[in-house]
Amino acid sequence: MVYSYSQLVLEHFREPRNVGEMKDANAKATAGSMACGDMMTFYLKIENGIVTNATFESYGCAANIATGSMVTELIKGKPLEEVKNLTWQEVVKSLGGLPKVKHHCSNLAIDTLMKAISEYEKTGLTEVETSDGKAAGREKTSQVIEG
Ligand code: FES
Repeated sequence: MVYSYSQLVLEHFREPRNVGEMKDANAKATAGSMACGDMMTFYLKIENGIVTNATFESYGCAANIATGSMVTELIKGKPLEEVKNLTWQEVVKSLGGLPKVKHHCSNLAIDTLMKAISEYEKTGLTEVETSDGKAAGREKTSQVIEG
């Protein structure tokens, strides 16, 4: 089947940004799409409440690769609380649109991202204290999450 993709979708598909495993990620999740059976993984590095790095691996279609790429671009350097509000519609809009039949591919990207954040938060955050005893920010204490 042939789909009509925006120029930006094609750019992110052909040259995806931030692809691959992140060795020092402190949040990770893999999720699959019920609609098509494809899967993807997000890796996040979260420091002091900021998503300082984000990468992904996609085992999905062109639309999923493009949305994964765009998601990493949209969230890098952003506060975690802001990232938690990102929607698939915003990602699709940032890509100049997607065919309706491909919306589930962007849902997979957002669902995987939110799963990684949820796992990160479930395992507990602690306040990092500076030498003067004041909280410097939130830091995760556990290792990379599988699943
Ligand atoms: S068709 Fe499966 S992620 Fe796009």
